[in-house]
Amino acid sequence: RRAFTVLALESSADDTCAAVVDSFRNILSNVVIKQHDLHETFGGIHPTVAIEAHQRNMPRAIRTALSDARLSVNDVDGIAYTRGPGIGGCLSVGSNAAKNIAAALNKPMVGVHHMQAHALTPLLTSPPSDSPEFPYLTILVSGGHTLLLLATSLTKFRILATTADESIGRAFDKVGRILEMQWGTHGPAASLEHFASLALPEEIAKAPTFPRPFWKKPAFSYASLHSTVERHVHSLGGVNNLDVSARRGLAHAFQKSAVDQLEDKLSQALLWCANRSVDVRGVVVSGGVASNQYLRSRLDIFCSGQSLRTFFPPVLLCTDNAAMIAWASMHRFLGQDHDSYEIELRPKWSI
Ligand code: KG4
Ligand code: ZN
Repeated sequence: RRAFTVLALESSADDTCAAVVDSFRNILSNVVIKQHDLHETFGGIHPTVAIEAHQRNMPRAIRTALSDARLSVNDVDGIAYTRGPGIGGCLSVGSNAAKNIAAALNKPMVGVHHMQAHALTPLLTSPPSDSPEFPYLTILVSGGHTLLLLATSLTKFRILATTADESIGRAFDKVGRILEMQWGTHGPAASLEHFASLALPEEIAKAPTFPRPFWKKPAFSYASLHSTVERHVHSLGGVNNLDVSARRGLAHAFQKSAVDQLEDKLSQALLWCANRSVDVRGVVVSGGVASNQYLRSRLDIFCSGQSLRTFFPPVLLCTDNAAMIAWASMHRFLGQDHDSYEIELRPKWSI
């Protein structure tokens, strides 16, 4: 059988993405144009700035995705894009581009749910013989998401826990700044991880234990963790008053507490599943925060204790990208289940 080739666009938050993927799981190109530097000064995504950047960058993302794949747009069989959830104005840049390309070429088009695409990524990145089998759990941890999902089929997902306030990634960024970590090549969170890894056992022993918020609830709270760290540093007279040992201990204690919360919710989710006879065998961990090696090894240890396999898709495909959008659209294209060119966006779209 000939491969079905999809050109996909993603612009739900601050990355402008275009990718070409075929039905044999080949990622022919995967272009991500970041705009982190634009939002650094605002301390978050500024919608107008993000929309303008998407408008500026989307044509180049599309051009590069096709030329990296060595394809002409006529070789593409279908166009996919992120229909939601996300920032409306941002979504519309990818959606309008996708609709116009599809209409001009008279090709089928599919609008994709961004979270479903994240949850299905491991099915793209590992061969079927080594992919998680349904039902599986997905921990999605990034600057935009803190989610624990149950995936029961290509189209059925359930949110078992999400954050009540800010995302785990933002908490890492903020605590990184509180502890005056360098921006470095990978941002303050990655610098914080490295710094925490240098903490000596006695420095770890001396550091405070931060509380585990919402102990019994299916919700994360990372704003409360980051403000606890902030208050603690403040009570000691500010970060400049702390020697390197104390700061390393604090970095470690924060990181430990951040992962404790993930483990807590994972235990609760497993209980929830067991009570409903849902036989979970695998846990997928993805998102920008999943590049943290401490988090990976803690979750590996936890899951192997529960006879669960862990899956960590490559970081490049865990952070926002259009290859995952292409893959999430594939079963619909192959089943001839397309959307009309009039289909509206879903900025708020439950899973
Ligand atoms: O998925 P991602 O690249 O994009 C957005 O969500 O926008 O995730 C970025 C997040 C940032 O908030 C950053 O703090 C976090 O991933 N991150 C990390 C590490 N590297 C990036 N968090 C913890 N440890 C790291 N090494
Ligand atoms: Zn995302």
